[in-house]
Amino acid sequence: MGLNLSFRFKMKQVAQERESNIILALDPFPGEPQHLLEISTKILKKVHPYICALKVNHQLVLPLGLFNGMQKILKLAQEKGLPTIMDCKINDVGHTNRAIAEYYFKAGFDAVIANPFVGWNEGLQPVFEVGKQKRRGVILLVYMSHKGAPEGYGQTIQDPKTKKPLLQYVAFAQKALEWKVDGAVVGATYPEKIKEVHSILKDRVPIFSPGVGAQGGDVKAAVEAGARYLIVGRAIISAEEPAETARSIRDIAQKV
Ligand code: XMP
Repeated sequence: MGLNLSFRFKMKQVAQERESNIILALDPFPGEPQHLLEISTKILKKVHPYICALKVNHQLVLPLGLFNGMQKILKLAQEKGLPTIMDCKINDVGHTNRAIAEYYFKAGFDAVIANPFVGWNEGLQPVFEVGKQKRRGVILLVYMSHKGAPEGYGQTIQDPKTKKPLLQYVAFAQKALEWKVDGAVVGATYPEKIKEVHSILKDRVPIFSPGVGAQGGDVKAAVEAGARYLIVGRAIISAEEPAETARSIRDIAQKV
């Protein structure tokens, strides 16, 4: 897969080829680095035909090391033709955000996830600059999947332009369009929010939806509401037959 293809295009292409919109969240249970590497490799080797991308978070990068064990996982994903997403939820001031994005892209990730709460100026702007330079993706949180999500993403703010009440996640969906993001994360546990965000983004920004299975989200409801990609971790990883489970989740999503 050529590096000159944009992240968005890669995602679309792989999802079409594999007839899958499932992104594997490779979050094995904590353990010794060597064990984590072995188990992660084993799962990815079994599951790769049924997924369209790989997502990891700090849970795996911290014990393996970005330029150590993680390189083996990234290489395997690349060999299997899968785009890779670092779920780092970038959330700091601009110069450190830039450094974080540069390290993850240097390590080989195709996209990073960022948190819009920090804003644009001296916040996420440098991340988008680096992404653009390197033709990598930046995915924005719009409404998270966990139970506490309404406390932040669901609060009512004042629209800085109209001075009228505005829902935080609606403001973030508007920023997703303004900032030309490559994806917006909306939890599968809140299908009504997916629907609302989809009505703002339409086909201009694909929705990435975590939370099906272990967190209680429903595959059919999320896809029907407008989720383009489903991020699935424990439902696959903890299954007795991860490949079979990935395949059946994929099939349910494809039917919708
Ligand atoms: P499970 O095991 O619940 O794992 O299927 C879900 C995966 O997705 C991540 N996650 C999120 N990532 N925004 C994100 O960017 C979210 O709202 C969100 N909710 C869950 C989680 O880290 C895990 O890898």
